[in-house]
Amino acid sequence: MDSTKLCILGCGGFIGSHLLDRVLADPSYTVIGIDKSAEKIKRHLSNSRLDFTLGDIYTMEAIATCVEQSDIVLSLAALCNPSLYNTIPLRVLENNYSQPSAIVKVCAEQKKRLIHFSTCEVYGRTAGSYVSGPHGLAVEPFNEDRSPYVLGPISAQRWTYACAKQLLERLIYAYGFERGLEYTIVRPFNFIGPRMDFIPGIDGEGVPRVIACFMEALLFNTPLKLVDGGFNRRAFTAISDAIDAIMGIIKNPEKSKNQIFNIGNPANETTIADLARRMKRIYQKLSPKYAGQTIDIVNVSSEEFYGKGYEDSDRRIPDISKARELLQWEPKTSLDDALSLTIESYVREYGARAIEENPL
Ligand code: NAD
Ligand code: UGA
Repeated sequence: MDSTKLCILGCGGFIGSHLLDRVLADPSYTVIGIDKSAEKIKRHLSNSRLDFTLGDIYTMEAIATCVEQSDIVLSLAALCNPSLYNTIPLRVLENNYSQPSAIVKVCAEQKKRLIHFSTCEVYGRTAGSYVSGPHGLAVEPFNEDRSPYVLGPISAQRWTYACAKQLLERLIYAYGFERGLEYTIVRPFNFIGPRMDFIPGIDGEGVPRVIACFMEALLFNTPLKLVDGGFNRRAFTAISDAIDAIMGIIKNPEKSKNQIFNIGNPANETTIADLARRMKRIYQKLSPKYAGQTIDIVNVSSEEFYGKGYEDSDRRIPDISKARELLQWEPKTSLDDALSLTIESYVREYGARAIEENPL
């Protein structure tokens, strides 16, 4: 049987590493993978079904050949950490629009199927949040084909990422419309799991996404910080459920042809303040020796935490009826289960170092 050849751009990141786990466990796939980093996928590098190149996708002359040699291109590479959007906006715009637009063009020219990873951030904020303040009005779940996009003013550079991702979606759609590109756009809603981001000072620098921020605080016994009170809400989605959906897209080319899918778990929606309390409780349960330890949760302003130009999404609940109907996909993992798996993996990865630096 011929294998399906996947070209995975950004295969060394959080989602990419979990996708590699799944596809390399199935002999019907071979992978051409590219990433600037291989730290999270070391265990796969000797796999004969993975042809990995370490480097920058956009300076590689061979990129057109990689696309040519594959059946499906999955484009995951991005700068997707909110602390960057208002601090290095030019690179965020380049990495999320200008550079990946070249991949869209190559896929259209070579008539290759493209599965592109966009973001739930394209929806921005709820329309009501600008009218009556956050959480002022009842909200409808965001729908792929009906909801409007509500982004803040240009000076609120937080929205550089959302805007770049939205423009790339429009480019992909236009290539589908005018040049027959076969594509699927995935809009992830806060996937969480092992190997998400980094712990500052250990395997990365800067401010990671919220799960890694809270894990750093728990492991090194510093306060968990709630940005602007932690009132904003997210629908956290277990990475295993997310990978199920992505496999559904890979395996159903006709049903997912030229579709945009929200992939998220509406049942796991909660506030960031509640997330902090849950993570503290689960961490103390999993690490009983920390049970009696004081773990503070404090408030911090967004300007102090992220700098000028940060604004937040107040609430984003995915309408997943399309993924349910076309992919027969249903997210199964509760927030507490997803957090337990994530916290356990961070304790395994960084626990010894934390105990060394922070003995009780
Ligand atoms: P990640 O940062 O963990 O992974 C991105 C990977 O892309 C990294 O390994 C990085 O080294 C690589 N990369 C970036 N630019 C590159 C370049 N020029 N050349 C080579 N490699 C490059 O991010 P992730 O969480 O795995 O997200 C993957 C995709 O999904 C992104 O497009 C992101 O915008 C989107 N997304 C993710 C989430 C989520 O919940 N994790 C949510 C919304 C959208
Ligand atoms: C994320 C990122 O933009 C992308 O990775 C992705 O496209 C998308 O959303 C997604 O994951 O679906 P966001 O959810 O705002 O954006 O990023 P997080 O860092 O996960 O922050 C979530 C919330 O926690 C925000 O309200 C943030 O202000 C807050 N936060 C973050 C804290 O209260 N404390 C912290 O220490 C860190």
